[in-house]
Amino acid sequence: MATDATGTGPDFAQRLLAWFDQHGRHDLPWQREHSPYRVWLSEIMLQQTRVETVIPYFERFVEAFPDIPSLARAPLDEVLHLWTGLGYYARARNLHRAAQLVTERHGGELPADPAALQALPGIGRSTAGAILAMAWQRRAPILDGNVKRVLARHGAIAGWPGQTAVANRLWARAEQLTPTARVADYTQAIMDLGATLCTRARPPCSQCPVAADCQARSADQVSAYPGRKPSAVTPVRRSLWLILRNREGEVLLERRPPQGIWGGLWSFPECPPDTPPTAVENLCADLGCEIRTTRPGAAGRHVFTHFKLDYQTREIDVHPTLRIAEGGRLRWVDPAAPGALGLPAPVHKLLVSLAASPARTQIA
Ligand code: ADE
Repeated sequence: MATDATGTGPDFAQRLLAWFDQHGRHDLPWQREHSPYRVWLSEIMLQQTRVETVIPYFERFVEAFPDIPSLARAPLDEVLHLWTGLGYYARARNLHRAAQLVTERHGGELPADPAALQALPGIGRSTAGAILAMAWQRRAPILDGNVKRVLARHGAIAGWPGQTAVANRLWARAEQLTPTARVADYTQAIMDLGATLCTRARPPCSQCPVAADCQARSADQVSAYPGRKPSAVTPVRRSLWLILRNREGEVLLERRPPQGIWGGLWSFPECPPDTPPTAVENLCADLGCEIRTTRPGAAGRHVFTHFKLDYQTREIDVHPTLRIAEGGRLRWVDPAAPGALGLPAPVHKLLVSLAASPARTQIA
């Protein structure tokens, strides 16, 4: 297939328009009686809402407010009442405010100018493009959610469209492909294609008028486009918790510093996960304990808002060599009855399971 200057197969727009003439929607209420106000209203109602849902709301709305000045004069409550059930009520508030601004700034006529349109509340770049194309046949690209999907697939434009660089590539593509002739029909056609054929899941590509040069399809990668929002990767911290048990089966807890995670709560003495055995031995000595036997204990993960904590435990049977001062930062507790202490959830959980398994030295 020959390609045009954009690297696209010939006449992307022509193929789309031929499909639209046969399969597109031509008899929608805002297409029948055409005015900039009706186009604007329909585009606002159609944001995030399906055509079939919008139709009765649109008809009731234009019956109540047939033009911009009547909408501008209406009490907001009445506007919201007519929007009830359509959802996303900020759209109605913005529409009402915009109607007042159009009355003040533009004598009650919607301005046929991209910057003036985008200066109105609720009208972004894509909605402005749709209004310019559909109300005044002005060549202007659009890029709503459905169109992003069509263009990302057709041009194999990778990445999440919420990223500026990806959105810029999609806008450049939209700009390239938008024709001068029949731009209103083209605009409706590409939205209809995205809504009815180039669907998110299992699109029927064999019926698509631009499938022949769809790059995602030729790579059998349709479902990979558009790229999904990257899930926020939370960092993982790792720690080794030392579960020191004396002959009575009591466990040594240490009060955590007031700053940092679990500030002021009681936890097991901890050290970096790769601490060598001799360093662990020294740490135990600093805590007034002589090691008798050690073995690996339970491990787990605790999820915080901004990171995850993977902890590994080491159970160490010890012989205390020092008396611990009352009211200090260390204390021996019976895991079955630790007392009224602030305990982080995983520490509490570990104490419960230790209570169920008495210290080995006790059994011996
Ligand atoms: N979504 C936004 N505008 C639309 C339109 N004119 N037709 C179908 N879906 C749309």
